[in-house]
Amino acid sequence: MPSLLLRNARIYTAVDEGRASAGISQGKIAMWDHGALLCKDGRIVAIGAESEVLARRAEAGPGAAGHGSAPEEIDCKGRCVIPGFVDPHTHLCFVRPREKEFLARLDGAEYLDILKAGGGILASVESVRAASEEELFSATRERALSAVRMGTTTIEIKSGYGLSTEAELKQLRVIHRVGRETPLSVVPSFLGAHAVPAEMRGRAEDYVDLLTVEMIPEVARQGLARFCDVFCEEGVFSVGQSRRILEAARGVGMHLKIHADELHDTGGAGLAAELHAVSAEHLLAASDQGLRAMAATGVVAVLLPSTAYSMRKPFARGRAMIDMSLPVAIATDCNPGSSCTESMPFAFGLAVMQMRLSIAEALTAATLNAAYAVGLGRECGSLAPGKSADFLLLDGETPAILAFRAGMSPVAEVFKAGTRVWPERKRT
Ligand code: NIG
Ligand code: FE
Repeated sequence: MPSLLLRNARIYTAVDEGRASAGISQGKIAMWDHGALLCKDGRIVAIGAESEVLARRAEAGPGAAGHGSAPEEIDCKGRCVIPGFVDPHTHLCFVRPREKEFLARLDGAEYLDILKAGGGILASVESVRAASEEELFSATRERALSAVRMGTTTIEIKSGYGLSTEAELKQLRVIHRVGRETPLSVVPSFLGAHAVPAEMRGRAEDYVDLLTVEMIPEVARQGLARFCDVFCEEGVFSVGQSRRILEAARGVGMHLKIHADELHDTGGAGLAAELHAVSAEHLLAASDQGLRAMAATGVVAVLLPSTAYSMRKPFARGRAMIDMSLPVAIATDCNPGSSCTESMPFAFGLAVMQMRLSIAEALTAATLNAAYAVGLGRECGSLAPGKSADFLLLDGETPAILAFRAGMSPVAEVFKAGTRVWPERKRT
């Protein structure tokens, strides 16, 4: 694999201290004004002031940066370098967006009422069940590639539009295939507990039985999901039902996530702390008590600002959470209903402007803390020797450009494991 040397670079990266950064640490990032980054075989070999990196390379001898050959050099003048985005919460695997529902919500319809009436998530379930595996893959792949263009290099993707063993397995197979056939590293999560399917309406307990007795064991047997997630919400799954589901998942080796306290405070944040979930997501309505319990157990708060935007809801209290020493990550929540965007730059801008995160805190949220939220903190999320060489060149002097160029993407080039994956090189 070719080796690569970025020179003349303004480099900004979160600093990995072995866990998601919380409190004051979340706002402390490393930067080099005239830096260099040396990569070999898809990994970062050295990073720092350009003079130091070049001296280290010279000391190591001619073969140090490749198979005896000089590395390809990129002059980063006028651009800044940051780690590739890790999007730690998406529902990317669907057929089509529910635009009419968005219009209805703008006219005052409530998200949970639409679901209760058989629309919302259940409308997406119908189309996912009806789609062939190939159709579902092709729609998901398109969205995955648009995420890459926006700077995402690692992504979590949930199932949850199948709600039957067969259809959930189909989604999970598609999600794995996206990991094989796009530049993205994909983290698959099982979200069979996204809603009670139409055919079991009014029989939530029976569906929880199906999840715990049949679906979760089968997903685990086929090794198709790293995480299990639950939509813990009034009228969807109660705290008690969520606990049963998540304990069953933990019993077969899955790690845990929870859609917690999105629209009502049902105690989801507290449940995440009790079960030592890796992360709890949304948290718009979470109580201080729930958040403090999360902080005490190190649960990552994954905030989804583009969902609050698209639902016209007050944003989660990101500033207060950081001040409470909760590690905060941000994600797109890309889905066909409540947040129809693959753009991490958009989530970044909203986190800074609406949740009042500093640029440094938002950078940590979109990279390092996001990587810890999907269990990949040691592999990616910051620029450090040994980590995957996943990074972006931004058209700007600092990462602030991500918030400043609102509605635009300043992502000029995307590198995954040391290879440029966007823009693609022209074939000759
Ligand atoms: O995270 N809140 C539940 N699930 C998704 C939305 C899914 C959908 O509306 O299709 C979310 O916002
Ligand atoms: Fe979600």
